Order: sequence, then C-alpha cells, then structure tokens
Amino acid sequence: MDTGLTNKVVLVTGGSSGIGAATAVAYGAAGARVALTYRSGPDRARQVAERVEQAGGEALAVPLDLERHETIEPAVAAVTERWGDVDVLIGNAVRWGTIMPNSIPFEEVPAEEWTAGLHANVVGNALLVKAVLPGMRANGFGRIVLISSGVAEEGVPGPGVYGTAKMALHGMARALAWDAGRDGILVNVVAAGLTLTERERPVSQEMLDSVAARTPTRRLSTAEDTAGLILYLGSGANRNLTGEIVRDGSNAARSAHL
Ligand SMILES: NC(=O)c1ccc[n+]([C@@H]2O[C@H](COP(=O)([O-])OP(=O)(O)OC[C@H]3O[C@@H](n4cnc5c(N)ncnc54)[C@H](OP(=O)(O)O)[C@@H]3O)[C@@H](O)[C@H]2O)c1
Repeated sequence: MDTGLTNKVVLVTGGSSGIGAATAVAYGAAGARVALTYRSGPDRARQVAERVEQAGGEALAVPLDLERHETIEPAVAAVTERWGDVDVLIGNAVRWGTIMPNSIPFEEVPAEEWTAGLHANVVGNALLVKAVLPGMRANGFGRIVLISSGVAEEGVPGPGVYGTAKMALHGMARALAWDAGRDGILVNVVAAGLTLTERERPVSQEMLDSVAARTPTRRLSTAEDTAGLILYLGSGANRNLTGEIVRDGSNAARSAHL
C-alpha cells in the first residue's frame, strides 16, 4: 500500500514519548520528514529523533507547550522554515491534569483546573490546527489526526476535565472535516483505549489485565499498534475517510474504571 508519505512534512505533537514517539518513528519508516514536539523532555525528543532517522526519515525536535499558546506558532514556523508547509498534523500532546477515576469528586475540581485543561487541550489544539491549515489549503492536501481517549465517550467518575477536553476534539474534528474537506484535507480522531507505552502509569497490573480481558483481542494496544492506525489515517493511503472517531482495540473495553 502506498502511503504517499515520502518527503511529506509531518508534525507530531508530544512526540517525545509514548504513542507520539512510536508515531514519529512510524512516519520516519515511511520516508517522511518528521517534526516531533516536546515540552519537558528535550533529551527524550532527541533520542526519538535519532530513531526516526534510523528508520529512514528526517527528523526535527521542536519545543511546544500547549499551556503556553505563544509557543504554538513558533513551533509550526520552525517546521515550515526547515521543510515547507506541514502536510500531516498529529495532535497527540496532552496536558494530563488529574485523570485517575475517583481521584477527586467533581465538585472539588477548582475552576482554575477547568480553565487550564481546556486552555491547553482544546484551545491549544485549535490554535495548532489554525497554524497549519492555510498551508494545507494552499497545497490542496492535508491530513489531521487528533488523539482522543475512550474516557471521552465512556466517562469515568471523577474530575472530568480530561474527558471533556477530549470530547471537544471530536466536535472540532467534525467541524473541520466539513470546513476543510473541499480543500483535500481529511480530519479524523483516534480514540485510544488504555495503551501500553514505555512510560510508567499509575495503573495497577490488575487493572491492565482486567481491561485486556474485556477486549475482543484479549490484549491492550501497544504504542506501535496505535501508531499504525494513526499513520494510515494521516497518510495518502487514507483517500476519503474523514470526520470519523476511530476506536482502537483497547478502547473496546468499556467501563474500565469499574
Ligand atoms: N497511554 C494511554 O493509555 C492513552 C489512552 C488513551 C488516550 N491516550 C492519548 O494518547 C496521547 C499520548 O498519550 P501517551 O500515553 O503516549 O502520553 P505520554 O507518554 O505521557 O506523552 C505525552 C507527550 O505530550 C507532551 N506534553 C505533556 N504536556 C504537554 C503540554 N502541556 N504541551 C505540549 N506537550 C505536552 C509530553 O512531552 P514531554 O514528555 O517532553 O514533557 C509527551 O511528549 C494523549 O493525547 C493521550 O491523551 C493515551
């Protein structure tokens, strides 16, 4: 299958770890020019950049903090100055905030936490899209994949900020699919379930096993599994799928918090 990604310019936010890192490497293997962003981990980002190059792509690590909106345009500008317009945007970075089920009752979440979570994860992603869209429209080609979570549709007891912000990305993708489709730009969401990455999670082995047991394949997705799905949606191989919320195998296990 031709992904059409050779020399395409791909921007993966949050590419310094986990799903973003695996996605950056997958694009590298497809021959793309991959910009990966980091917030606190420049060394991790450099290591991922090396893996992208070893896989056969070109790589550039750039700082980006969704909480600091003034960093968004410069990050995109650094990419376009190096390689030209961004062809593929993977909105993967996340400000996690407090996400553990039952960690805080809803009414105890401070207003500041709502503002910070939506400021970073919703408005930050909107500004990112805003920065790459003109180039995509001018070129008549673009792929945008926003990374959401099963938590958005499923809901878990607790703070709710993370899930609310992720659900907003579903609305953003639907609107964008209509707005940009006529310009050759396809926009989709990957709603990942609990995913195995190299990072330590505050999730017990018991919970991982329990969620895995309730998936069709009886296993959780790895970062590489999810990267493969993202790569397909964010490539020329995806010819006309847009405005969809695509759920991976881990996300088929509902009520993971019970
Ligand atoms: N892992 C899962 O089980 C799972 C499940 C469902 C959905 N997801 C979604 O999948 C995506 C990736 O998750 P992951 O587990 O791979 O994450 P991760 O390993 O924690 O990596 C998060 C990435 O985002 C960056 N980041 C953190 N705060 C940021 C901020 N304020 N602004 C910009 N970048 C920031 C981090 O950069 P630094 O490390 O450099 O600070 C890192 O590159 C997220 O959107 C997440 O919500 C994950």
